[in-house]
Amino acid sequence: MEKIVIDGGARLSGKVEISGMKNAAVAVIFACITVADVCIIDNLPQISDVRQSLEMLSSIGAKIRAVGRNSVEIDTRKVKNKVVPAELARKMRASYYLAGACLARFGSAKVGLPGGCDFGSRPIDQHVKAFTAMGATVNVGGGFMDAVTENGVKSAGIFFDCVTVGATINTIIASVLCDGVTVIENAAREPHIVDLANFLNYCGANITGAGTDVIKIKGVEKLHGCTYSIIPDMIEAGTFMVAAAATGGRLYIDNVIPKHLEAITAKLCEMGAEIEEYDDAMLVTRRGELLPANVKTLPYPGFPTDMNPQIATLMCLAKGTSHISETIWDGRFRYVDELRRMGAMIKVDGKLAVVEGGAQLTGSCVRAVDLRAGAAMVIAGLACEGRTEIEDVHYIERGYDNIVSKLRSVGAKIKKINTPDDADMKTG
Ligand code: EPU
Repeated sequence: MEKIVIDGGARLSGKVEISGMKNAAVAVIFACITVADVCIIDNLPQISDVRQSLEMLSSIGAKIRAVGRNSVEIDTRKVKNKVVPAELARKMRASYYLAGACLARFGSAKVGLPGGCDFGSRPIDQHVKAFTAMGATVNVGGGFMDAVTENGVKSAGIFFDCVTVGATINTIIASVLCDGVTVIENAAREPHIVDLANFLNYCGANITGAGTDVIKIKGVEKLHGCTYSIIPDMIEAGTFMVAAAATGGRLYIDNVIPKHLEAITAKLCEMGAEIEEYDDAMLVTRRGELLPANVKTLPYPGFPTDMNPQIATLMCLAKGTSHISETIWDGRFRYVDELRRMGAMIKVDGKLAVVEGGAQLTGSCVRAVDLRAGAAMVIAGLACEGRTEIEDVHYIERGYDNIVSKLRSVGAKIKKINTPDDADMKTG
């Protein structure tokens, strides 16, 4: 079994480079199906969700060729509208973009239902609503989503019942080649939605309004290939910012878009970190005591739910009472039991967590119960006294590119081991 082992207490110091954004990369990779040409995608993070997206594309006939450490050539000219096996689709959330992409290109799609981190219920009713409005007959059952149109998708007006990243992305992808103008209202505004729209526009699409809550997609007859670079990952950047604050360190975090980090930056400053912003970098330093704070997770530009576990860990280190109100995922607080093993005092009541901070955390054996929960365990391990062993590392590897070596390069005593007995660490 693979584990991450951390000897806590080292202050992080130095420079770390942020990789491309997971949630933009997976959207762009599946959107390549609609392009039916050759695209080169740069700045792809080396994470298992990207590898699995490429594997899924290749299973339906795309030719994938690595053209550099973080660049891949994707040729979707010979893609066939094959059924994507449920076992493959279940490995990740973004596999449902395959449905939008095949609907756009072929007028029908049959895709295994998506998996992804377990936050309780993760409905897809808004995806079904959008595809239905666009003229598809959609059946969900037997582990598959089956969507069929008579003559291809048609443009539609869609008002989402809730702000959803996934359904906004899927609707953009599905409508990019249709006749007429599709209008999405109450659209999500996350930076990865803008990145997807920019990519498709580079390929000849006509999408306006991405980044606002009204997005218009004027269908075009066909798209063409392009070379495109994925934006930096704001959640990876936020995770390193919290790690710097948690360890009382000084970290220069390079290759970021500071605008995307505003909610995280504001909260960290409130909690006692000092942050200097540069054009595409941030310097995060923490010298004094950490202060308690209150956080409410919200769709962008609010404080991201994908930073909930990491900020909770920082709250554990701040003397006083902090609160986190989670508004996106019912099952987001599954990491709390793991933090409690390290001495954290957190009470959860439904979607509210109350953190009594200030107690010294101590190293323990914990699990990464999901991707961002795993990141929180890493931060807790870095900041606590003693040794922490984290199991279920595969969750962390879904979304963090080389997290162990990046952290080692800035002074963390961290390594990955392959068996529980191989704990004889020589950390640097
Ligand atoms: N929702 C519905 N119906 C739908 C779709 C969503 O009710 O058809 C609800 C959800 O239950 C949730 C809210 O809408 O309460 C938001 O869900 P959203 O669709 O925005 O989430 P997602 O697309 O499934 C993406 C990210 C998640 C991130 C959320 C929220 C990807 C591949 N995943 O999920 O990222 O937590 O947006 O920002 O883009 C992660 O990276 O660790 C991760 C889990």
